[in-house]
Amino acid sequence: MPATAAPKGIPFGAAIQSEHFEDTSYRDLFARECDLVLPMNELKFALVQPERGQFDFSRADRLLDFCRDNGKTARGTTFVWYSTNPAWVEAIEDPVELERALVDHIERVADHCKGRLTSWDVVNEVIAHEPEENGGPLRDTFWLRRLGPRHIPIAFVAASRADPKAKMVLNEYDLEFRGPRFDQRRAIALSIVRQLQDAGIRIDAAGLQAHLYAHQEIDVEALARFGADLKALGVGILTTELDVIDFQVPGGPEEIDRAAAKVVGDYLDGLLGGQRPETVITWGLTDRYNWVEDVMPRGDGQPCRPLPFDADLRPKAWYGDLRRRLAQG
Ligand code: XIL
Repeated sequence: MPATAAPKGIPFGAAIQSEHFEDTSYRDLFARECDLVLPMNELKFALVQPERGQFDFSRADRLLDFCRDNGKTARGTTFVWYSTNPAWVEAIEDPVELERALVDHIERVADHCKGRLTSWDVVNEVIAHEPEENGGPLRDTFWLRRLGPRHIPIAFVAASRADPKAKMVLNEYDLEFRGPRFDQRRAIALSIVRQLQDAGIRIDAAGLQAHLYAHQEIDVEALARFGADLKALGVGILTTELDVIDFQVPGGPEEIDRAAAKVVGDYLDGLLGGQRPETVITWGLTDRYNWVEDVMPRGDGQPCRPLPFDADLRPKAWYGDLRRRLAQG
C-alpha cells in the first residue's frame, strides 16, 4: 500500500518526541505503524513562544516534515493548558492584555500549522481534578483566575477562525472510569460542549486522553453513553493519549501485560460502543521512551510497560487486538 493511501478502518496514531528523533529504530517504528503522528510537546505554548513575540517552530516543523514525507496526518496539542506556559505569559496580570496574548498566540501558531493538522486540542485539562472538592467544575488555573471561564470560548473562537478546516477539540483525562468523580467529570465535559454550542461556537470533538490505570475499573456503559451523548450533540470523539499505568499491578511483564490488555479492551468496548472514534492515538509507541516512568514509576523497581511496543520494540498482544478492532471500525 502506498504511504499516502487513505487508511482503512479507524486511523491509528502515536505521539512522537523530537528529542528521540535521532534514534532511527524509534523513528522507523512510527513510519511503519502509524497513520497519524502527533508532536508530543513541540507545539505547547512555552516551546513555541518562549519569549513574547519570539516563535520557534523548528522542532515542530521537523516532526511535521516527517509526517508529510511519510504520508502521515498529524494533529496539534495544545493552546490552553495549566502547564508548560512561559513565564512571560503567567506574568501578565491585566485580563485584556492576557486575552490579546492568548489570541495572538493561537492565531500565529494555528496559521503556521494550517493545512498540516487535522485537529487541535484547543483546551487541555480544564475540568477540575476532583470537581466536588476543588470548588467548581473547572480546574483552578491561572487562565481561569485571570480570564474567568470565558478563556474557553475565547480559545475556541480564535482557533476555529485561524484554522477553519481543523477540528476543534476539548481534550481531557479521567473520563472512562467507574465512580461518582468520573460521572461528574463526564457531565462537566458535556456541559462545556453544550455551553459552547449554545453560544454558537464550533466544537467538533472531545478528546479522551485515556491514561488508563490498570488497577481501575472502566465504566464501559458510562463511556459508551458519553460517546452517544456527544454524538447526539453532533460532536465526535477521539482517543488522544492512550497508555497504561501499571504501578499497582503486582507481578512481572506477563502479569502487567495481561492487566494492560484487560483495561485497554474494556476501554475500547466503551469507546466503540458510543460512536465511531475519529482516531486512537497512543502517548508514545515504545516503552523505551515514556512519561509514566517519570511521573508514576512502579514501586518494585521494574520498568513500567505503558505502550504498544516494549523497550526492544516487540509488540504487546494488546496492540494486535487494538489494531484488529480499529481495522474493523
Ligand atoms: C507530557 C509529556 O508526555 C512529557 O514529555 C512532558 O514533559 C509533559 O507533558 N497529559 C497531557 C500531556 O495532556 O500533554 C502530558 O504530556 C501528559 C498528561
